[in-house]
Parts: sequence; C-alpha cells; structure tokens
Amino acid sequence: MSSRLLPFSHAGKVAFITGGARGIGFEIARVLAFDGADVVLFDLLDTVGDSAAAIAREHGAKTLGIQGSVTDEAAVVRAMAEAAEKLGYVSILVNNAAITTNVDRVVNMSVDRFRRDVEINLIGAFTCAKHVLPGMLAAEWGRIINISSGAAELGSFGQSGYSASKSGMLGLTRSLALEYARKQITCNAVMPGLIDAPAADAIRGDMRERIAALIPSRRLGTPQEVAYTVSFLASERASYVNGESIFVSSGQELFVF
Ligand SMILES: NC(=O)c1ccc[n+]([C@@H]2O[C@H](COP(=O)([O-])OP(=O)(O)OC[C@H]3O[C@@H](n4cnc5c(N)ncnc54)[C@H](O)[C@@H]3O)[C@@H](O)[C@H]2O)c1
Repeated sequence: MSSRLLPFSHAGKVAFITGGARGIGFEIARVLAFDGADVVLFDLLDTVGDSAAAIAREHGAKTLGIQGSVTDEAAVVRAMAEAAEKLGYVSILVNNAAITTNVDRVVNMSVDRFRRDVEINLIGAFTCAKHVLPGMLAAEWGRIINISSGAAELGSFGQSGYSASKSGMLGLTRSLALEYARKQITCNAVMPGLIDAPAADAIRGDMRERIAALIPSRRLGTPQEVAYTVSFLASERASYVNGESIFVSSGQELFVF
C-alpha cells in the first residue's frame, strides 16, 4: 500500500444513480458531479433529462438522463450500455430508486402490493448490480452503494413491504461485499433516517413533529447530508469500508427516552 495521500475527487469516474430525477437521488447525483464524477440518472420520470441537464449546467459534468424502470432488466442493460458508450464504464452504482407510498397494515396489504415493493426496491437493486459488475470486474475497480432505510433495522408501522425490501438490501450489500472485495469492488449501504425529501412527504404534519422530537438533533435530515455520505463511500478513500450499513439519521435509532 503506497503512502501517497489520496485527494478527494471522483474525476474520471462515471456514476449511475437510479431514481436520480428528484429527491435524494438527484442530490446524490449533484454531489457526485460536484466532487468530479460524470453522472447518469436513470428514472421512471420523464423529467429525468431535465434533471441531468440541470446538473451539467451547474457543475460542467457530462451527464445523461435515461428514462426507464429498474424492474425492466432489458432497459437496465440498455442504459448501462448507453452510459458506457457515451461516458465510459460505470464505476459507481447508487441503487436509490424505490417506491415509498405503499402503506397499509399487513392484514390489509395484498400479496401483490408487498411483492411490488420487493420487485422495485430489492430486485431492482440486484438487477442493476448484476449488470454493472462485468464492467467493474474488467476494470478491477467499483463502488456499489445501496440506499436502504432506517426501516431496514427498525421496521416500519404500515410499511411491511418497504421495510422487508430495505432489510433485503442489507443482505444483498453484504453478499456483494464478500464476492468482489478481491477486485477492489466494495458494496455498502446507507440507511437514512427521516429526510426532508419526497418519501417523507406522505407523513402527516403532526406525525412529522412527533418524529422530529425523537431525533437527537430535533430536525429532519437533508438530502445533501445523505449524499455526502454516499460520496465518501464512492471515493477511493473508502477502499477498506466494505459490507457496512451506515445510519444517516442523527442517531435517531439510539433514542430511547
Ligand atoms: N425521504 C426519506 O425520509 C427517506 C428515508 C429513508 C430512506 N429513503 C430512501 O431514499 C431513496 C430516495 O427517496 P426520496 O425521499 O428521494 O423519494 P423519491 O420518491 O423522490 O425517490 C424515488 C425516485 O425513484 C424513482 N423510481 C421509483 N420507481 C422506479 C423504478 N421502478 N425505476 C426507476 N426509478 C424509479 C422515482 O421516480 C423517484 O425519482 C429511496 O430509496 C427511499 O427509500 C428515503
């Protein structure tokens, strides 16, 4: 191991962010571009091209907005190929796409709705990881960062499918971490607490206040605070951090009384 000190920069790297058109995913793309990466935003929304263009204007990064679903394996393969052709091989994957709106107690939750959470949040992440790996393995360098949730460890009242899919991401994270460490490919998960972003919009005002009162800093997190952690994990500097699941929650899970 050399004693050369590593600068903090993603220069020369291409990052692929699922669900990057808005919210936390957009901020992750923005911060990675600010830190030097070229970025590909992959999202269901038809505004994904505008989001990519906004990041290019702000940071001068090369960007690409591709509309598609993480549940469509062929679309994922096409998007990775387009990214590689136009920007270069994808060396950073951020699995951020998810649905967060499927809310009901188990007794009222249909099996199909539960399955949909797993299909998008967990199998979507697996699909993207599977198809980004050949390029990373050829280059012998890669970073996969899975955006899980505090709900992965704490559960979530009324969101069994969401919570289970986010817990599944932690197992996927550890398996990827074990399989590819020898090729300098790491995989880690980030578990945001309550963040002031679209997924939290569904929570009623009074409940947001009650939750905020249980957060040590007494405030919701910002999308940037999640993105800064992701950018560290995506960097050369995080080379020996592997298979970890990191809360970005102001210590919310520590709060007992
Ligand atoms: N906001 C929070 O409090 C919070 C807390 C913990 C975890 N998270 C996680 O952070 C991530 C981002 O959440 P957010 O708050 O920005 O919400 P969001 O709804 O804005 O983010 C989800 C993005 O994913 C996209 N998407 C959904 N299904 C897709 C699919 N099949 N294929 C491609 N794109 C798809 C959406 O269009 C959207 O742009 C999610 O994984 C969420 O579970 C959020």
